[in-house]
Amino acid sequence: MYHRTTFLFMEVNTICVIGAGTMGSGIAQVAAQSGFYTLLFDINTAMLDKAKLGIEKNLQYLFNKQKITEAEKDNIFQRIQFVNDTNDCLADVFIEAIVEKVDAKVAIFNQMAEVNHSEVIFASNTSSLSISDIQAKVVHPERVVGMHFFNPAPLMKLVEVVQGQQTADKVVDNIAALCKQLNKVPVLCKDAPGFIVNRVARHYYLEAMKLVENRVASIEEVDTIMEASGFKMGPFKLMDLIGMDINLAVSQSVYEAFNKAERFTPSPLQIEKVAKGELGKKTGKGFYEYGEGKGKAY
Ligand code: NAI
Repeated sequence: MYHRTTFLFMEVNTICVIGAGTMGSGIAQVAAQSGFYTLLFDINTAMLDKAKLGIEKNLQYLFNKQKITEAEKDNIFQRIQFVNDTNDCLADVFIEAIVEKVDAKVAIFNQMAEVNHSEVIFASNTSSLSISDIQAKVVHPERVVGMHFFNPAPLMKLVEVVQGQQTADKVVDNIAALCKQLNKVPVLCKDAPGFIVNRVARHYYLEAMKLVENRVASIEEVDTIMEASGFKMGPFKLMDLIGMDINLAVSQSVYEAFNKAERFTPSPLQIEKVAKGELGKKTGKGFYEYGEGKGKAY
């Protein structure tokens, strides 16, 4: 739990989520469900169309389960605008969920800073990049902060709020307060490789892959035993959900940050999967196959 005194919260009316992929579409849904005017921006219109359909489907599901009324469903959806032009991105808080590259994140933050007011907060959903590295090249470093949601964003309660070397305390406090307004549980942490969860979880994935590489157990056996022992998802199912490319990027970045410590060495198994484009659920195939009648690991 977050235990610092919350400062007076800046007024936030509009949240702009940058990147309409797995995480961005989920975060936009969360923002709109919590009553914020929400902009979802992507450079790829096909991704915006996909996000629109996905969010509509999720809201329909919540309506069918009687978690929201028909009017709420319509209002939530109407609060989201799907945009493709940075000039339309006028907001109070930006939450970036684009490709996992420092330069791309810096470029989009600087682009958004040009058209927005001087108090805007720039939050990054990065899983593995250093917030301090991102803010080093951004025009307003004190307003850059980590806001690490978990997948799937509408369901997972935890958000790591990451303070980079130059992030103002006030910005951290504001983002922690915003997390609560989004019905999430903020956990404050300093900028460190993998933050908290991804650092601890590295071994959940890496040791599981070692077991399979060394033919100690199969993918399905490892997942079954971990789920039976209390984990919500086995490591292989979880890697398929996260996306193999994203998970490998985290492995590589934590490995580099720890001076190539042996215990963080990325697995050949995940490297091979990424090279083959078998990225998990999002491509229909990862450690498991997805689609009608599929579900077997191989
Ligand atoms: P994704 O590949 O599903 O989506 C990325 C989206 O960003 C794509 O729609 C792409 O068109 C868009 N994009 C790329 N460059 C852009 C730009 N310059 N401007 C606007 N849009 C741009 O990726 P995913 O999985 O949603 O990950 C996004 C971020 O969230 C990454 O930083 C990742 O580390 C982080 N993250 C991912 C989690 C996961 O389980 N997949 C969990 C938590 C964080």
